[in-house]
Amino acid sequence: MITLALSKGRIFDETMPLLKAAGIEVLEDPEKSRKLILPTNHANVRVVLVRASDVPTYVQYGGADLGVTGLDTLIEHGTDGLYQPLDLQIAKCRMSVAVRADFDYAAKVKQGARLKVATKYTTIARDFFATKGVHVDMVKLYGSMELAPLTGLADAIVDLVSTGNTLKANHLVEVERIMEISSRLVVNQAALKMKQVDIRRIIDAFSAALPVHSAAAK
Ligand code: PRP
Repeated sequence: MITLALSKGRIFDETMPLLKAAGIEVLEDPEKSRKLILPTNHANVRVVLVRASDVPTYVQYGGADLGVTGLDTLIEHGTDGLYQPLDLQIAKCRMSVAVRADFDYAAKVKQGARLKVATKYTTIARDFFATKGVHVDMVKLYGSMELAPLTGLADAIVDLVSTGNTLKANHLVEVERIMEISSRLVVNQAALKMKQVDIRRIIDAFSAALPVHSAAAK
């Protein structure tokens, strides 16, 4: 049995064409079904639905053989025990710093002021500001980061930006682009050895279906 961990929404939707290229079709719609384990047209391939931030954990500990996860989630989780053969170039967005439109970020950084930063992505944020030499007080949040600068909880946020509409709607402006984000295929290292033929077939089919071929590690 091959178990693939996916999260509902953009990652699930954008992984479907890649699975199709591998000859795999998921037989139930996760938006309509309450099931957490979805069968496919291959009796030995199934999809498990997990929270986006849990995908690396499932794959690392063998609850799934492989999974699709955002680079943001992967960096925050750490890559121990995970083989990362492919950048799937899906669910693209960027990790950015944003502040209230009336907050002079550049001046604060120049002055060497301490910044209060609210984010779900504390590892990425900490590394970024450490490299810049900016001292920060980190406030860990689990969602709706945009609210933090509006309520005085923080001076800045580190969050994902796609269209920029959420920032705009909340009168926030993007002041730094930290990194480009896309989803990665992650594979349990032990599973790769034990189920090499089946997993390699999926990796190769995904790789061949990508718009720009990123060489699959052999
Ligand atoms: C992300 C992010 C922003 C929003 C940005 O949230 O946290 O809130 O998308 O997208 P935009 O630039 O197109 O407006 P998501 O909807 O993924 O949910 P989350 O808050 O649970 O991370």
